[in-house]
Amino acid sequence: MLIGFMGTGKTAIGREISKKIGIPFVDTDRLIEEREGKTISEIFEDEGEPYFRSLETVVLTEMTAADDAHRAVISLGGGTPITEGNHELIRSLGCVVWLKTSLGETLERVSGNTSRPLLQCDNPTEKVKALMNSRFPIYEEVSHYAIKTTDLSISELASGIIDSASYHFSSIDNT
Ligand code: S3P
Repeated sequence: MLIGFMGTGKTAIGREISKKIGIPFVDTDRLIEEREGKTISEIFEDEGEPYFRSLETVVLTEMTAADDAHRAVISLGGGTPITEGNHELIRSLGCVVWLKTSLGETLERVSGNTSRPLLQCDNPTEKVKALMNSRFPIYEEVSHYAIKTTDLSISELASGIIDSASYHFSSIDNT
């Protein structure tokens, strides 16, 4: 399970892990879009953020009930861990890795991107700063491991996460 701020590369890294170890990749934002038949931006615009947040919880709850979700690489939307009731659901789905990016790296990746409704505001830089400040302690609390993405390629990050997850599951097996 990959968590982290918008623009950390959760989807690209998740796909790479899935390719390397041959298990399916699931992106919860895409599940929500398919379910609603709308893009994330359209959902925010038509129904508002609280409705979108409730869909995140619905999708997570459904995944915890599915037998095969534990054998998938899952990428979560950047804001899914901010809903407190989601913490237990997230951790019950396996090894949770926080992809940690710096402010500069994030701004570079998200600037000019119009598909993230939260950043369509007058001062996206201040918004990213404020969201990072409030979310980083939550990501820290929900995750089992944190990996800094700076200067590492997608393939290197994927390999590091696979190693952390193998260690995680082997230490659980041994307890
Ligand atoms: C959000 C992150 C987005 C998407 C939505 C809200 C957030 O996903 O779920 O725009 O609150 O951080 P990514 O983290 O994949 O960009």
